[in-house]
Amino acid sequence: MIILKNVTKVYKNGTEALKKINMAIPKGEFAFIIGPSGSGKSTLVKLIMREEIATYGEIYVNGFDMQGIDRYQIPTFRRSIGVVFQDFKLLPNKTAYDNVEFALQITGTHKRDISKMVPQLLDVVGLKHKDKAYPDELSGGEQQRVALARAIANNPDLLICDEPTGNLDPKTSIGIIELLGRINKMGTTIIVATHDSNIVNFMQKRVIVLKDGRIINDKMRGQYI
Ligand SMILES: Nc1ncnc2c1ncn2[C@@H]1O[C@H](COP(=O)(O)OP(=O)(O)OP(=O)(O)O)[C@@H](O)[C@H]1O
Ligand SMILES: [Mg+2]
Repeated sequence: MIILKNVTKVYKNGTEALKKINMAIPKGEFAFIIGPSGSGKSTLVKLIMREEIATYGEIYVNGFDMQGIDRYQIPTFRRSIGVVFQDFKLLPNKTAYDNVEFALQITGTHKRDISKMVPQLLDVVGLKHKDKAYPDELSGGEQQRVALARAIANNPDLLICDEPTGNLDPKTSIGIIELLGRINKMGTTIIVATHDSNIVNFMQKRVIVLKDGRIINDKMRGQYI
């Protein structure tokens, strides 16, 4: 569950990126955040994952208070979310297998569990057969699928994606978004900030529209017009 109450974000240089945002996203929902370039999509995503802190207002994510959270609680919070960015690069000198394995190692997963989980995760994203490939031996869509496997490795309650199909062709993009749909069906809440009208219209999920830092529309089964 995500709740934002009267959230305003002013960057150091004075840019007011978000203005009095009110929004609630229940557990298990699939929501798109769309809007023109500069409308505040990435800022909203960064506030939810606490990469940025709101200037005014309240934000609650998975029961954590983003304004009041203690420093020592942040790693616990971060483990409850997964993130996928357009430019969220894989580690170049690690194979697909090793990239996913690494995500499990840093959360202290037992070795025996890791060797079971990595093939399962690569299977979910349809890349079991590419486990030994290095990132530069994979297509853009395949790399993004490895990034997805990595993001869901620790079974996050919430998956946050910023332009997850940014560099991909329409067909590959639909493949990625269908994959996100399947992950959502397994119970993970999903938020996707995007310009890609193709994937928004394909999914027919909730669409929150930003313009100049304000929510101007919020529809279930929305379209990108
Ligand atoms: N670190 C920053 N410091 C100052 N201003 C920023 C910073 N990051 C973003 N902004 C400004 O905040 C506003 C919202 O930016 P944001 O990146 O959230 O937009 P966006 O909707 O994600 O755009 P795009 O579709 O181009 O990715 C813009 O005016 C941008 O210039
Ligand atoms: Mg952005």
